[in-house]
Amino acid sequence: MASKTGVEEPQQTEKAAPAAAYSAGLEGVPVAKSKLCRIDGMQGKLYYMGYPIEDLASASSFEETAFLLWHGRLPKQDELDVLESELRRNRALPQQAVDFISMLPHTAQPMDVLRTMTSLLSSFDQNPERSPESNLHRAIAITARFPTIMATFHRLRQNQKPVEPNPKLGHAANFLYMLFGKEPDEATARVMDMALILHLDHEMNASTFAALVTASTLSDLYSAVSSGVGALKGPLHGGANEEVLKMLLQIGDATNVETFVDDALAKKIKISGFGHRVYKNYDPRARILKEYARRLSEKTKFSRFFDITDRLEAAMVARKGKQGIFPNVDLYSGIVYHQIGIATDLFTPIFAIARVAGWTAHVLEYWEKNRIFRPASIYDGPEPRTYTPMSQR
Ligand code: ACO
Repeated sequence: MASKTGVEEPQQTEKAAPAAAYSAGLEGVPVAKSKLCRIDGMQGKLYYMGYPIEDLASASSFEETAFLLWHGRLPKQDELDVLESELRRNRALPQQAVDFISMLPHTAQPMDVLRTMTSLLSSFDQNPERSPESNLHRAIAITARFPTIMATFHRLRQNQKPVEPNPKLGHAANFLYMLFGKEPDEATARVMDMALILHLDHEMNASTFAALVTASTLSDLYSAVSSGVGALKGPLHGGANEEVLKMLLQIGDATNVETFVDDALAKKIKISGFGHRVYKNYDPRARILKEYARRLSEKTKFSRFFDITDRLEAAMVARKGKQGIFPNVDLYSGIVYHQIGIATDLFTPIFAIARVAGWTAHVLEYWEKNRIFRPASIYDGPEPRTYTPMSQR
């Protein structure tokens, strides 16, 4: 039927989709089915493909856990060897990409650099094939390059020459090698490997959802990963680990903790490193990281940050525990990275270096039964009205 304006009016469809209840921030709304990761927020438990995070953190490696999520099972030795060698082969960046990084301002935020370089790398991928298999190889190549992007930028911004990847080293150890220009000792490499495992996946969080929304339009894997990096950057999500360190500097000394907490809570300021949409108990990753933070602080004989955080935890749990607010993964990760000597603005990129494997695993899984994300909003604006010409406004 034509309207007064001559534009076809839409036909009434016979069956509209049922209206779902509105939930701010999609709280409690399932948006996908996934086998990859399960959180029991009340018990404070986390599983990747059914394996408890504690077991993976103590016994697995980043490469093996990435295989688990990409393939849905633990690898045999020869399968792990193949994945490791593919990751190693793909670590180096094209020279033009290194040149591009060298043109960026030294003051650029590392997460912005990572997002930009993810987009840039898509220009070097000339393979038109979009099969699940080629997308898996793409996921491996992107994952392999994330540490190189960050280490290259970090070296260049300090007027140092980038360090070529070392094919003898594993993913975590090689990242530290490219960052510092010397091989890490075994214990330090192991701590980094464990931190990457802990951050590798986390069910339907904001950045994974952002990656899936982009992927659901059948856009490409680079675009999906760029969306994930952009979402992770925010201080309510992955950016919280950097905020924690700034907060520790602000608190200055463990004796100031209670005053700081009471003041922040009175002003309704959220304290970084606490609270979670799903966990209403201690985040199991925080427990693991706390132990490493403690051990490293004892080893380096620098325990000020650990002491402040430990007391902060006690103060927050005493005041907000009843509300289900407990430490999350970001509370202790920063102390661990700081003890290893990593610059604060690389903390969130390290999160991304791990999570890229999770994002891509979720995207590959979602594409098996893809449906475009097209939710709804509740209209809260004016009723239809007549356009006012400029002269009458
Ligand atoms: N400090 C103080 N109060 C808090 C905190 C906190 N960190 N987190 C939640 N609350 C309070 C809120 O003020 C609110 O209280 P009210 O009901 O009295 O108003 C209640 O708990 C619920 O908080 P919401 O913000 O509605 O919870 P939501 O699920 O939307 O947010 C989030 C979760 C973003 C993680 C929140 O807890 C927060 O901002 N934490 C600090 C930032 C942080 O550490 N982020 C990292 C999360 S883990 C990750 O993404 C890797």
